[in-house]
Amino acid sequence: MRRKLLFGNWKMNKTIAETKVFGKESVELEKFAKSKNVDIGIAPVYLSLAALKEANPSLIVASQNLHYEDHGAFTGEISIPMLKELGVDWAIIGHSERRSYYNETNESCNKKLLAMEANKMTPIYCVGETLEQFEKGVTKKVIEEQVLEGIKGLSKAYVEDMVIAYEPVWSIGTGKNASKEIAQDICSYIRELIKKEYGDASSKIRILYGGSVKPENVHDYLAQKDVDGALVGGASLKVDSFRQLIENI
Ligand code: PGA
Repeated sequence: MRRKLLFGNWKMNKTIAETKVFGKESVELEKFAKSKNVDIGIAPVYLSLAALKEANPSLIVASQNLHYEDHGAFTGEISIPMLKELGVDWAIIGHSERRSYYNETNESCNKKLLAMEANKMTPIYCVGETLEQFEKGVTKKVIEEQVLEGIKGLSKAYVEDMVIAYEPVWSIGTGKNASKEIAQDICSYIRELIKKEYGDASSKIRILYGGSVKPENVHDYLAQKDVDGALVGGASLKVDSFRQLIENI
């Protein structure tokens, strides 16, 4: 049985002080999630990673990105050893905002995923088509490339424990939801792709849906057979709304 996972992607929101307040309140939130058999995690900005870990050491805390090299001349980047020093062993890789604003490619995501496997870190690898691709009817082709090129060279044991998030770009932060049928169709397609490459790892890997997930629609998505949770932006910023997400699953 795959455990449900609700992950908050805070993007460029919350100061360190604001994160500390949420971090303290997240202790109760996490207990509540456990009582419902749900895993929760949060990806704050780099500056707040240490504060969040300190406020709630048992919470799953993820970086929103990382560099695949350990150190060097990469202005503005952070590396795996720097994250591990804080006890952060999860990261979001290939979010569509990073793909579109910072030129992340399947190839650079692959380098990051390989470095994460070597360092025993857990990724949430994001894939998703743009509105133009959706309208052209090439969603599955895009998803296939993103998934297969991204995970190339990873071991079966690693793939079993990783997380993939399907986030149609046109539904992120727009309030325009993909239907639950689309979410199920693409999440199940991703599981099939994993099955072809890695056999029964496909029954263990967790596949999330993301894009305008809110307390009002979380149930519809998570009731789908192949949707194991959600990657949530806006609705993860307030403790009350995060609690509602857990409650409504
Ligand atoms: P949203 O963001 O929930 O605000 O649409 C989701 C995401 O980008 O992960």
